[in-house]
Amino acid sequence: MRTRPLKVALLGCGVVGSEVARIMTTHADDLTARIGAPVELAGVAVRRPSKVREGIDPALVTTDATALLKRGDIDVVIEVIGGIEPARTLITTAFENGASVVSANKALLAQDGAALHAAAEQHGLDLYYEAAVAGAIPLVRPMRESLAGDKINRVMGIVNGTTNFILDKMDSTGAGYQEALDEATALGYAEADPTADVEGYDAAAKAAILAGIAFHTRVRLDDVYREGMTEVSAADFASAKRMGCTIKLLAILERAADGESVTARVHPAMIPLSHPLASVREAYNAVFVEAEAAGRLMFYGPGAGGSPTASAVLGDLVAVCRNKLAEATGPGESAYTQLPVSPMGDVVTRYHISLDVADKPGVLAQVATTFAEHGVSIDTVRQQGKDGEASLVVVTHRAPDAALSGTVEALRKLDTVRGVASIMRVEGE
Ligand code: NDP
Ligand code: HSE
Repeated sequence: MRTRPLKVALLGCGVVGSEVARIMTTHADDLTARIGAPVELAGVAVRRPSKVREGIDPALVTTDATALLKRGDIDVVIEVIGGIEPARTLITTAFENGASVVSANKALLAQDGAALHAAAEQHGLDLYYEAAVAGAIPLVRPMRESLAGDKINRVMGIVNGTTNFILDKMDSTGAGYQEALDEATALGYAEADPTADVEGYDAAAKAAILAGIAFHTRVRLDDVYREGMTEVSAADFASAKRMGCTIKLLAILERAADGESVTARVHPAMIPLSHPLASVREAYNAVFVEAEAAGRLMFYGPGAGGSPTASAVLGDLVAVCRNKLAEATGPGESAYTQLPVSPMGDVVTRYHISLDVADKPGVLAQVATTFAEHGVSIDTVRQQGKDGEASLVVVTHRAPDAALSGTVEALRKLDTVRGVASIMRVEGE
């Protein structure tokens, strides 16, 4: 057992960082035994130095993260600040100064993962980020390592705890959107700016990271089609219930049937209540991975919150420290397939479209003709009339997204269509 400690710099001591520091202290002996050397918290960089931080020696706290990294004796840097800058520059500085990096920063990895991986490789160091996707759930390393001999064709999951918490509350208790969001924020699930959660950017960042790992290609945040969940209404939930469904914000990553391209998307979708993802409650996440040889695998667990996320960070810390002692590195980026990411228009799925129409003869035929003209086949139609107007719900068979968009555009131009109340994809059947 080596007695000289491995020195760790903690960048950020908020919801996640404070839990990382707490567990490093309370589980120090176990971590030492598992790593084969003691780990020492050598410094903690924050924005507000005067804030009281329970269990943290004030002498370790600094606002000068760069000076901490340039001390020359830091072995591992844990970045839990979040956002693009200064996190990106600090991670690069860590590599330049010989430290491996553990990060929970999906926003940065989805935007600049390739450059950060290249910097790690150039310096012969590790970049680990299990906590960046689905909180405590072991997912990045199982996909990167355990499934490295298989071929992943599809990944579908709930990867944002905040939005799942909100949708679950809206569905199960009839809570309002803002009330549910406030509760998720108080519980430490939401990002510093919850727009990232509710508009789907956080899930899209995770989708980009997972798609890159699953398909051994580069997928950036900009490649991921994204729709948030702020438009999901009580009427959508009522409609979903009538169909035996609920609504979830899903990340769906698919390899095309010919294997020549991939798609990556995040949007709310109706899924049948019988689907395992329908029973994922509160801030839990769950991810289905479909691999050629393994078949269907499901990963499930807490997707957000300080302590669960710290678990994933510390798992990475142990792995990276072991690599340091072995003078080795773990697997780096694998992007050899270089598959293009197809546009959303190429995605084929089913749709639930809710229209407000005039309740008079021929309207249904006109609507049906519009679908037919765009090659979109109708599965079911439900109409409910009220005072000369009617609500028309059309559920389609599988059709390309581009064909559905064309249909909706044409429907909006019909005099008899007063409005398109909602369009939602139907998945998981
Ligand atoms: P917080 O906002 O709670 O914490 C951010 C920390 O970074 C704070 O300690 C803050 O200091 C510090 N900080 C901010 N700016 C600077 C700076 N310029 N220099 C030094 N320190 C700085 O965020 P979270 O802990 O929730 O999230 C951290 C990361 O983990 C993010 O990338 C997030 O996406 C990710 N993550 C979060 C999860 C969660 O459930 N919360 C789950 C999975 C990943 P101060 O304390 O002084 O304000
Ligand atoms: N804000 C994120 C979520 C944190 O709600 O899932 C976990 O990445």
